[in-house]
Amino acid sequence: MADKYKIIGPVYDFLSTIYSGRQIHKCKTAMNIDLKADDKILFAGVGHGRDAIDAAEKGAQVTVVDLSATMLKNVEKNLKDKNFKHPIRLVHSDILEFDEVGEYDQVVANFFLNVFPEDFMATVMKHLGTLVKADGHFVIGDFHYPTGNVLTKAFQNAYWYIAVGIFTIFAKNAFHKIYNYPQHLENMGFSIEKKQSFNVLLIPSLWSMKASRKQVTKPQQKDVA
Ligand SMILES: C[S@@+](CC[C@H](N)C(=O)[O-])C[C@H]1O[C@@H](n2cnc3c(N)ncnc32)[C@H](O)[C@@H]1O
Repeated sequence: MADKYKIIGPVYDFLSTIYSGRQIHKCKTAMNIDLKADDKILFAGVGHGRDAIDAAEKGAQVTVVDLSATMLKNVEKNLKDKNFKHPIRLVHSDILEFDEVGEYDQVVANFFLNVFPEDFMATVMKHLGTLVKADGHFVIGDFHYPTGNVLTKAFQNAYWYIAVGIFTIFAKNAFHKIYNYPQHLENMGFSIEKKQSFNVLLIPSLWSMKASRKQVTKPQQKDVA
């Protein structure tokens, strides 16, 4: 299996720090805050895994999946000399072949879904949804969908297109507009419980959201006299 992150993988976290200060890291760890010890959490397309390490430090049972051996090597490097209640489980796999259906309290897709063209992204999102327990959560951290006035939207788009341009060249990621993840989650039958934005140069440029399955309320039966 070709490793698309062979070139850019080793410097991935360095680039994200240059590009956002600590904002990308804050975005990726924001929804770890509600984790409880022993919760089962999955990080799909984990990259260097600092968000997964943050979850393991909270006592969660963490599984990480990535298709890139380069990225997983960087997770291993970051794990050196770290001890947790539950050791992090590393899985080298295409996420679509990872089928632990209904096993996870929280499934996290941080800056992962944006690597795919939109139709395929929706397929991956649906697959990730199946891995979430009935009462579990689906977390997405990514570039902020353009909102606000013309200047704000122009900045949000520019911030995204510079990043996607670099990753299209060096990792063959799909080149596309910013996805509306809340809309996709709603379409899949999830509702957003919590959303947090992260500013770059005072403009909301990244966001993290946590969603759970919509409660289906049964229609009330009327008593027939
Ligand atoms: C843009 S990086 C995001 C990394 C990390 N989640 C972060 O926020 O820094 C996308 C990651 O998804 C992984 N990836 C791409 N396609 C994948 C697939 N089909 N299955 C599993 N991982 C995949 C890449 O190897 C890469 O590590």
